[in-house]
Amino acid sequence: MSDLRKAIFLDRDGTINEDVGFLKDPSDIHLLPGTIDALLKLQKKYLLFVITNQSGIAKGLMSMEEVMQVNEKLNEMLSEKGIFIEQWYVCPHNREDNCSCIKPKPYFVLKAKKDYGLNLNESFVIGDHFHDTMTAREQGLFGLYLLTGHGGRHLCDLPSDILIFHRLSDAAEWIMQHEDPKAALLQQIEKGASIISNGGVVAFPTETVYGLGADAFLPEAVARLFEIKGRPLYNPLIVHISDYDQLYQVAATVPEEALRLTQKYWPGPLTIVLPKRKEIPDIVTGGEKTVAIRMPSNPIALDLIRKSGTPIAAPSANAFSCTSPTTALHVKEQLGNQCDLIIDGGACRIGVESTVVSFVSSRPIVLRPGGISFEDIQRAVSDLQQTDSSKKENAQSPGMLPNHYAPKTPISAFTEIPKCYEDKTDVGILLFQPSEQSFAGTVEVLSRLGNENEAAANFYAAIRRLDALKLKEIVAQFAPPRGVGLAINNRLSKAVKGRVEK
Ligand code: TXA
Ligand code: MG
Repeated sequence: MSDLRKAIFLDRDGTINEDVGFLKDPSDIHLLPGTIDALLKLQKKYLLFVITNQSGIAKGLMSMEEVMQVNEKLNEMLSEKGIFIEQWYVCPHNREDNCSCIKPKPYFVLKAKKDYGLNLNESFVIGDHFHDTMTAREQGLFGLYLLTGHGGRHLCDLPSDILIFHRLSDAAEWIMQHEDPKAALLQQIEKGASIISNGGVVAFPTETVYGLGADAFLPEAVARLFEIKGRPLYNPLIVHISDYDQLYQVAATVPEEALRLTQKYWPGPLTIVLPKRKEIPDIVTGGEKTVAIRMPSNPIALDLIRKSGTPIAAPSANAFSCTSPTTALHVKEQLGNQCDLIIDGGACRIGVESTVVSFVSSRPIVLRPGGISFEDIQRAVSDLQQTDSSKKENAQSPGMLPNHYAPKTPISAFTEIPKCYEDKTDVGILLFQPSEQSFAGTVEVLSRLGNENEAAANFYAAIRRLDALKLKEIVAQFAPPRGVGLAINNRLSKAVKGRVEK
């Protein structure tokens, strides 16, 4: 028996291989991209187990033998590549059967613990379903959630303290760097807080995009944010707070309607613009008498603000006018070692920036569409206006430039991808959802389920992947103009306006 005592419990469908629904024919097995490399990396330090729920057996749609055949074939495909799975555990029940072995129940994990003498406090469970990540949580297992498989569909049900990753390979990379994840994350947050209180700059995850933060009351620290990003000083920042006391340290007045809106959507992807208190330095607000404020819901962000003991001014952690970062790696690629610390909290679950609502003119106005839809804000705020921020003359704040968020590759966007792009090999295609069209170039699909939230969570990472291929052009499909789809379309339109002509 191996002397490894730490384990990774993997879900099967949607985590290791594509989830085709009731998979019973071994010829339908398709490994997800990066599976082999990720498992090879993980097995250097961890024993690998698979726990799969196959409710198709209880439903009479397939037999245990068929499931075993699929497992055997998968096992063969992995072992050919040098990957060894210790056990394939199968729960053949429906959730309603109230069996003892369905995830998140710890049955198989405890069995493995007993049979292999595992230390669960140093073990992980990885899957594309909320139940995977909750498996044996009380037994000390640390759950990581994937956006592959059904991951996009259940994002809304996920507790906010679960870390999410775009792919198994991203989760594997994170695990290899965080052997004792709970302690390591806490240490990073404490280190970050001490850097911020000493006037330094820290990149940190929020639920929308990664932010680059400094103490909002220290003008020299805030000046470094502008310097690192290469951002013009007239472009004001958002001040991030962790409680309502801090709201009143930042805002001079808070209208009743603004307060009601925050009570509905904070902590979360909502930013409100209010008259500022004089203690807020001018550099934070670009010389304006108003200030943008947000209470993020990401627990790492909240804890960082709390432990820093001060509101944190933070723009998105990307170079000025470029694609926003939704993973720590994106920050590292663009800003490198210029920040004092990058806290790696996995991928951002919303994936587009917060909705900015201003309460400083006669009528409340949505200045930037974002993580909370216009329809939702409209339900909570009477007489709401929406800016057409694509028009420069309509920009209500100097920061709302019409050419933000651009990749380096020239980009154009359409409701349907024109036929003339189908046979072009040097064009990258960014689809909102799977299409009947076939393309000769590289295709990225934002949501296999045609769901705006899933698409938003994948949006910036997909654009970056296409951008990295150094293609002649990226051609994108607009999202349906509803919910967070409006925010995706807003970013796409701005990226098109900011396109770099080669
Ligand atoms: O989701 C987000 O909002 C992310 C995360 C890090 O919280 N932050 C973000 O920050 O997107 P940034 O700096 O990239 O965008 C701030 C937006 C800009 O469009 C800016 O013009 C607007 O907020 N803004 C800031 N202060 C303002 C003010 N006083 N009046 C009007 N708009 C303001
Ligand atoms: Mg930004």
